[in-house]
Amino acid sequence: MKEFKPIKEGKVREIYDNGDSLIMVATDRISAFDVILKNKVTKKGTVLTQMSRFWFDYTKDILPNHMISTDVKDMPEFFQQPQFDGNSMLCKKLTMLPIECIVRGYITGSGWASYQKTGLVCGIRLPEGLKECDKLPEPIYTPSTKAEIGDHDENISYEKSIDVLEKLYPGHGEYYANCLKTYTLKLYTECAEYALSRGIIIADTKFEFGLDENGNVVLGDEMLTPDSSRFWPAEGYEPGHSQPSFDKQFVRDWLKSHPDSDYNLPQDVIDKTIAKYKEAYKLLTGSEIQ
Ligand SMILES: Nc1ncnc2c1ncn2[C@@H]1O[C@H](COP(=O)(O)OP(=O)(O)O)[C@@H](O)[C@H]1O
Ligand SMILES: [Mg+2]
Repeated sequence: MKEFKPIKEGKVREIYDNGDSLIMVATDRISAFDVILKNKVTKKGTVLTQMSRFWFDYTKDILPNHMISTDVKDMPEFFQQPQFDGNSMLCKKLTMLPIECIVRGYITGSGWASYQKTGLVCGIRLPEGLKECDKLPEPIYTPSTKAEIGDHDENISYEKSIDVLEKLYPGHGEYYANCLKTYTLKLYTECAEYALSRGIIIADTKFEFGLDENGNVVLGDEMLTPDSSRFWPAEGYEPGHSQPSFDKQFVRDWLKSHPDSDYNLPQDVIDKTIAKYKEAYKLLTGSEIQ
């Protein structure tokens, strides 16, 4: 049997190379305040992979995506082991476009900080008088470029995203930049509306796109998971202060009140967190994670 080693190990995901395809494995690791916790959240990886799968199916008529299969039977024998079952996705390998396609429907986090100082978010002027976590009049597209490891991603204007792509694909920069913006806003708008009807606010999210062998724009990476997005419970939503995170609130609250814990959480906090991930999945998809 061929052995596989990850070509990349992120905080939470592992990526394996398989020739024309990749296998993306979401682990049960969890991060909070940018630190990986000592505990594993059992089945979190499966929930995240299955959630991406749901959204890739849900949006496949808007644009093609990289998903080939989440069934390990379609993957090399090495992946037919329990630790890969349910949390792995076989994906078409793409040439990734170096833009992080961020869309914000609500004002929070770094956007809120910037708006308070300047009235702008990533160069976009917003109406006066917005409260923290208010819904924006319409979603805004705020791209960034991937920084070198260690650095923070750099926010860029839409015009700058044209330049970045024009350098890589002379004569096509504007076309690709416009594709990314248009798809990002459409994907977010349709999916956030659906999620809201199921009790979840998707405050913001990030998509990544790549090109297939014919130069077509294809949606890649993970899609609309709590790791790439901010999920808030719709129930109790109220602008004017920060909102609880749908999935990580128990973890954050506990860590804040136990500053000496060294990121080691008690099992009941982990159990409640597992339940939140499963609840989010059930609300969005209508089915249970096994
Ligand atoms: N279909 C794909 N083909 C090639 N690369 C991809 C594809 N989908 C996602 N990627 C890339 O795989 C990597 C996933 O790594 P990740 O764990 O998210 O770490 P990071 O985002 O910090 O680079 C990212 O660089 C992403 O752009
Ligand atoms: Mg990533």
